[in-house]
Amino acid sequence: MPVLEAKARAKLNLSLDVLCRREDGYHELRMVMQTVELCDTLRLETGTGEPLRMCSDLGFLPANEKNLAAAAALRLCEAVGADPKGVSIELKKSIPVCAGLAGGSADAAAVLRGLNCLLELGLPPERLAEVGGKVGSDVPYCVWGGTALAEGRGEVLTALPALPQCHVVLCKPPFSVSTPELFGRIDSVRIRCRPDTAGLIAALRRGDLAGVARRVYNVFEDVLPERRAGTVREVKNTLIQNGALGAGMSGTGPTVFGLFDSLEAARAAYELLRGRYQETFLTRTAGSEFA
Ligand code: C5P
Repeated sequence: MPVLEAKARAKLNLSLDVLCRREDGYHELRMVMQTVELCDTLRLETGTGEPLRMCSDLGFLPANEKNLAAAAALRLCEAVGADPKGVSIELKKSIPVCAGLAGGSADAAAVLRGLNCLLELGLPPERLAEVGGKVGSDVPYCVWGGTALAEGRGEVLTALPALPQCHVVLCKPPFSVSTPELFGRIDSVRIRCRPDTAGLIAALRRGDLAGVARRVYNVFEDVLPERRAGTVREVKNTLIQNGALGAGMSGTGPTVFGLFDSLEAARAAYELLRGRYQETFLTRTAGSEFA
């Protein structure tokens, strides 16, 4: 039976701006996204003769279509008129869950790319991204990966020059943030500080890593409940004091990341934070899935 091992890489928000609430309840966003090497792995199989099967090494994750990976398989089969029977998805998680790193969306995107190969569908990435948009707002970006501007609900994508390769320390403090709740809170506050998205994109065009890192910012940092915001600030300060060129929160958090040009400094910051927070990772930036 055809089998494929697929990587589902995490994403960071180099910037995240919320422009307005839309009539459909979603928010109009402007975000610069970046893929990193930290990834989940999926074992995909087709032709098992059994009903669609989904399992993961984390017992608390849904093992049915409530899991974005299984939802992606169903949506893809629906889009091409294929029978999902015979598809098996085994998921091994490494990306922290509910962390602002789009782990579930990355898994869904890996299923779309993987089944496109296994089932020999021959769909272009644009079509996979379109199907992904029905699974979740971050899935279209995760289909492509790399460095990109994401607008609209998150599905309007423009490829950007790749961020110069660098080391990344990721640290997820031990609490979760509800994405719908944080989007709800942002409607009731005045956003005092916004990322310099144009300046960040100009720095990417110059290949200026320090210029990008200096502009890392996410409007949700200002919307977190004060207790949570304090922890995020503390992790950011630790990263900067230990040599990060820039640091910020990803997505609706709570994961904080720092960008480093020196592996030694990144490793030292990683060791320090790892002593305080179990879910701390040392990784690197990654390019587009279709480069
Ligand atoms: O699209 P997805 O299911 O990932 O979105 C999860 C939640 O995040 C939505 O239910 C909504 O509350 C919020 N969201 C939003 N605007 C976006 C993306 C997500 O309000 N552009």
